[in-house]
Amino acid sequence: MKTLKWWQNAVFYQIYPRSFADGNGDGIGDFKGITEKLDYLAGLGVDALWLSPHFPSPNWDCGYDISDYTNVAPEYGTMDDFKHFLGEAHKRNLRVILDLVLNHTSDEHPWFLESKSSKDNPKADWYVWVDTPPNNWQSCFDGEAWTYAPERNQYYYHYFMKQQPDLNWKNPEVKKAMWDAVRFWLDLGVDGYRLDALGTIFEDPALTPHTVPMNLVELRRFSEAAKTPEELKQKEKYWHDMFKNQWGQPGIHELMKELRSIVDEYEDRMLVGEDDNIDYMGNGMDELHLVFNFPLANTDRITPKHIRNNQQDRIAQLNKLSAGGWACNTLGNHDRSRIYTCYGDKVHDAELARLNAALVLTLKGTPFLYNGEEIGMTDYMLTNIAQVKDTMGSWYYHTIVTDMGVHPDEALVRTAEMTRDKNRTPMHWANKPNAGFSPDGVETWLPVNPNYKAGINVHDQERNPDSILNYYKHLLKVRRETPALVEGNYTPLHENAEDYFAFLRTAEKQAVLVVLNYSEKRLNLNFSDAKELENKNLHTLFSSGVRSHVEHAASKLSIAPFEVFIAEAKA
Ligand code: GLC
Repeated sequence: MKTLKWWQNAVFYQIYPRSFADGNGDGIGDFKGITEKLDYLAGLGVDALWLSPHFPSPNWDCGYDISDYTNVAPEYGTMDDFKHFLGEAHKRNLRVILDLVLNHTSDEHPWFLESKSSKDNPKADWYVWVDTPPNNWQSCFDGEAWTYAPERNQYYYHYFMKQQPDLNWKNPEVKKAMWDAVRFWLDLGVDGYRLDALGTIFEDPALTPHTVPMNLVELRRFSEAAKTPEELKQKEKYWHDMFKNQWGQPGIHELMKELRSIVDEYEDRMLVGEDDNIDYMGNGMDELHLVFNFPLANTDRITPKHIRNNQQDRIAQLNKLSAGGWACNTLGNHDRSRIYTCYGDKVHDAELARLNAALVLTLKGTPFLYNGEEIGMTDYMLTNIAQVKDTMGSWYYHTIVTDMGVHPDEALVRTAEMTRDKNRTPMHWANKPNAGFSPDGVETWLPVNPNYKAGINVHDQERNPDSILNYYKHLLKVRRETPALVEGNYTPLHENAEDYFAFLRTAEKQAVLVVLNYSEKRLNLNFSDAKELENKNLHTLFSSGVRSHVEHAASKLSIAPFEVFIAEAKA
């Protein structure tokens, strides 16, 4: 076996703290709740947890607007609760990484309160201040990117909501303060960080205006109406052009190198970036350990062709890094429509969700799962504007109703579709009131999706051998017990096949074939042309179908509709 780092072997599981488990019965998830569920997570078979922000926050952006980087949000518990959680996770061999939001703070952070109080206070230059808006830049959440602060008679810049002012990373004092916060949690023993929105840290120094003939809200309306291939292409181009001067700007690599050197002062910690740009891995040793393979997820339909093209491209780029690069695959997180919903076809959603889970867990690279996907949670469309907690959604609703005269009914439908609340509803633990997330009668912070009653909950699925939960558990076990699925190289097979995606994972002592049948057809396949499988038998390690035999000839393999088949080559 190769010696891999823990984060190369691990399967990560993202916990959205507000929605994971409510330990004190107030309708909001918390550390008590998470700690009580650690046995569940260990039993599921994941190895590491990524926590979305758990810091004090006014929650304009559900915790991504932080008002104290070295504390715990009171609704989630105390610092002692956090330490207890971390200790209990480590006892179960579960690593823990935190969310690191570098680009901006909350507008209620003491740093910002001081900075905006006058033009000559000690933190006057900690944020990005200008006398008048220098250009037409937009915030990607709420319109104009420049907001007036009467205290200074100046404007500050924000890439996200106006309650999320951008820090001025050119100021060495900002860096020092943030690196102190980074060390604070590493000293406590956390295993690393997921870096939030790192592409937005620097802006184009020339402040070049965007060239799109509309503002943010108009672009959203344009995007909703875009249907033809030309319109869809135009939409992509507009989004890119609107923000291209506000992200991916010079300075990020130097900053990531600095951060990496801090993290490397500690033993065995890691960084994963919320970006798909492999350049942020530097030479493979001196910037981030991982970046997400978002291009795999950025499609309406996961097809064999899409996967093959994606893998070819990503692996070629990773191989170019002088110290080598490690892949990182994910389909779901707190910002994206749930995988059960968005890659379904409304007829075979259950089959497709299982295929896509197998995809992430068998491709080369570190998988990241999002809480709830293991029980097949779906998007939940809110039906009342008062329920919306994602303020980019409520801002959009009010803007199109008030400024554009859109009918409130239509505005609500559009808002329910675009807000990220739909994929952040509370986790379903049981077929009990409030899905067992909170006690009966408690109003949860977001409504619970009523489909927990239809078997989409942990308790029922644990008792059902055919549930998607037991399917995830089984796959995670097979992955853990099969070295080639963790460390093996990737070789695509039958590269023109449109119905199925087949590939080999080959390690020093093991060759494993994976076949994912994305079609309703029964397939009769011959893999004996692959040199690793020539004259070999296939010993089944996992099948989502019903198989009467364990051994199959590589030359004569029958695959059921939508089957996931994983087998080891044996002489
Ligand atoms: C990242 C987070 C997202 C947040 C944004 C601003 O994209 O994943 O949830 O709104 O950054 O912090």
